[in-house]
Amino acid sequence: MTREPAALDLHDFEPERERFRADVIQGLRRPRKELPCKYFYDERGSKLFERICGLEEYYPTRTEIAILESHAGEMAARIGPRPLLVEYGSGSSTKTRLLLDHLEEPIAYVPVDISREHLLESASLISDRYPELEVLPVCADFTGHFEVPEPGAPYERRVGYFPGSTLGNFEAAAAREFLAGIAEAGGPGSGLLLGADLDKDPEVLEAAYDDADGVTAEFNLNLLRRINEELDADFRLDRFRHRAVYDAKQTRVEMHLVSVEAQTVRIGDETVEFERDESIHTESSHKYTLEGLAALAGDAGFAVEGVWTDPARLFSVQLLAAV
Ligand code: AVJ
Repeated sequence: MTREPAALDLHDFEPERERFRADVIQGLRRPRKELPCKYFYDERGSKLFERICGLEEYYPTRTEIAILESHAGEMAARIGPRPLLVEYGSGSSTKTRLLLDHLEEPIAYVPVDISREHLLESASLISDRYPELEVLPVCADFTGHFEVPEPGAPYERRVGYFPGSTLGNFEAAAAREFLAGIAEAGGPGSGLLLGADLDKDPEVLEAAYDDADGVTAEFNLNLLRRINEELDADFRLDRFRHRAVYDAKQTRVEMHLVSVEAQTVRIGDETVEFERDESIHTESSHKYTLEGLAALAGDAGFAVEGVWTDPARLFSVQLLAAV
C-alpha cells in the first residue's frame, strides 16, 4: 500500500535570506558603510550586468573576447589535452565556449555559480553544444568552500577558469588567498586561466563604470531595490545617486551609492541613518599591471605560464601553473 507523504510543517528560516540580511545590516552599521558586491546579481542585476558588457564605454568584455578569439588556440595548446575545466562564477558561460571550441578533448566542465537558474540553463546549453563533454554544474558561492565533482573519465590536468576580471573585486589579501586556494585544490601542475583588467587612463576607467546611458547607475541602484524587495526595506532609489571614482593609490575603481540628503532608512525592524553625501561603498574593481599580476600569482603559489593581451594592452588573459 502506498501512502501519501505526510504534509510536514517546515520551519523555514530561509537561511540564504538571513545571510543576506545579516550581511546588509552589518555592512551598513560600519563607520564607512559598505555592501558586498556579490549581491548585485539577482535576476534583474544579472540582466543589467549583461547590458553593461555590451556598452561602448565598458571595454573589458569585448576586449577579453577579442583576446580569446585571437589566442584561444595557443591557450588550448598550453593547457594541453584532456583537461578538467572548473569555472568560478560561470554566469552565462559565453567566453567558455570560445575556449571549449579549441581545447583538445576536454573531459569535463564544472561551472560554479551562485545563481541556480542561470547556472542550470547555461550548463544545459553547453551540454547540448558539446555532447562529448561531461558537464557537472555546482551551485555554490565560488568564494566559499565547495567540492569539485569527480568526472567519469580520467583527465590529464585540472584547469580553473576565472575570466572577466572578477578577481578585481577582491582586496589584495583576499585575492592572494583565493588564488592560493585554487592552487592548493588543484595541486602542483594544475592551471588557472585568469582574465584581469589592466591599469589605464583614469578617464577611460571612470567612463567604463559611469556610462552615458546610466546602465551602470541602474545596476548599482538595483542593489537597494533588491534589499527593499527581499528584506522589507524602504530605500528611496531617487534619494541615492551612483558614483564611480578611480583611486590612483589603490589602482581601483570604486562604486558608491551616495545619499543625496540626511535620511533614515528602515530595513525590516531596524533603521539606518544617513548623513547628506554619506556613501555606501558597493564595489571595488582593482586594475593590475602585468608585473603586479605576476607577483600576486607568485605569492599565491602560481607561476605565469602564458600571457595574452590586446594590442592596446587594455586587458590580459594569463595562464598560471601551480608550482
Ligand atoms: C564582473 C566584477 C568584473 O568590476 O568590471 C561592471 C562588475 N561593475 N560594472 C567589474 C561591474 C560595474 C565587473 N566584474
